[in-house]
Amino acid sequence: MAPDLLKEASVFITGGGSGINLGIARCFAQVGANVAICGRTPERLDLAAQELRGLGARVFTAVADVRDPDAVAAAVANAGADLGPLSTVVAGAAGNFMSSAESMSSKGFRTVVEIDLVGSFHAAQAAFDQLKQTRGSVLFVSAGQADSAYLYQAHVGAAKAGIDSLMRHLAIEWGPLGIRSNVIVPGPIEDTEGMKRLAAQAGRQAWTDSIALGRYGTAEEVGAMAVVLASPLASFVTGARIVVDGGLALSGSGLVNRAMAQSVAAGQAPQVR
Ligand code: COA
Repeated sequence: MAPDLLKEASVFITGGGSGINLGIARCFAQVGANVAICGRTPERLDLAAQELRGLGARVFTAVADVRDPDAVAAAVANAGADLGPLSTVVAGAAGNFMSSAESMSSKGFRTVVEIDLVGSFHAAQAAFDQLKQTRGSVLFVSAGQADSAYLYQAHVGAAKAGIDSLMRHLAIEWGPLGIRSNVIVPGPIEDTEGMKRLAAQAGRQAWTDSIALGRYGTAEEVGAMAVVLASPLASFVTGARIVVDGGLALSGSGLVNRAMAQSVAAGQAPQVR
């Protein structure tokens, strides 16, 4: 991508201090954007900011929990004042843990919905005035759990399905103002807190077997798509849910494919390679 593709544009990324969201931040920095990152841990933000500055970006950091609307509003306002009006907000902050539905506390369920769904709403709403000014876009980070059921992920699936719906509603409401709204759906990504929580080393092969491309992705592969969606290259794209998962979604939960493979192995189905 051209190193000046988003020169002078300003992007605000929740959860930008680590993982996929930091990968997204890196990609924006590499195409000339000013980058604001927000998160709960100052040390993590400082380290990330140092790295992003090394890529040539002007960087703003804000310590804020996306569950706190006032903190998010202040962070978004201060970022715009420092870097220039935001043209993209990436709502990426998320929380996850594995728990069976029957044993999850109400607070546990609510915590994930509040971080993922309500937190994404806070970020988008806080940026509305600036996005209206720049005719910018909101990019939400969803997950395969939104439309493909996984074990022990009822809270995450519910929250992410809510994000998908929120994205579509904002596309309709804010489209006439020139604001685009899209979702990116990362699959299993290397070195992320999310996959550490979902896949112990012992489970990694089963994940990989379910991915058409046969490997995990990188945070930068998600970031590249985020840059495209935020850029003029996607100026007519809104209301879209773009999947960046190496083909994982094609295999659903993976359980059906495993059952099919077992049938083939037992000679109950036509020979396949
Ligand atoms: N199993 C069941 N319940 C769990 C749990 C687990 N492994 N981990 C947390 N919870 C519950 C807690 O028990 C608590 O409810 P309770 O008080 O009724 O017991 C509730 O979730 C809130 O947990 P708490 O640790 O107080 O919340 P937090 O705001 O500090 O942390 C989390 C939020 C739980 C999402 C935490 O895992 C986190 O900070 N994650 C951020 C990183 C992350 O998940 N990255 C992956 C993104 S895909």
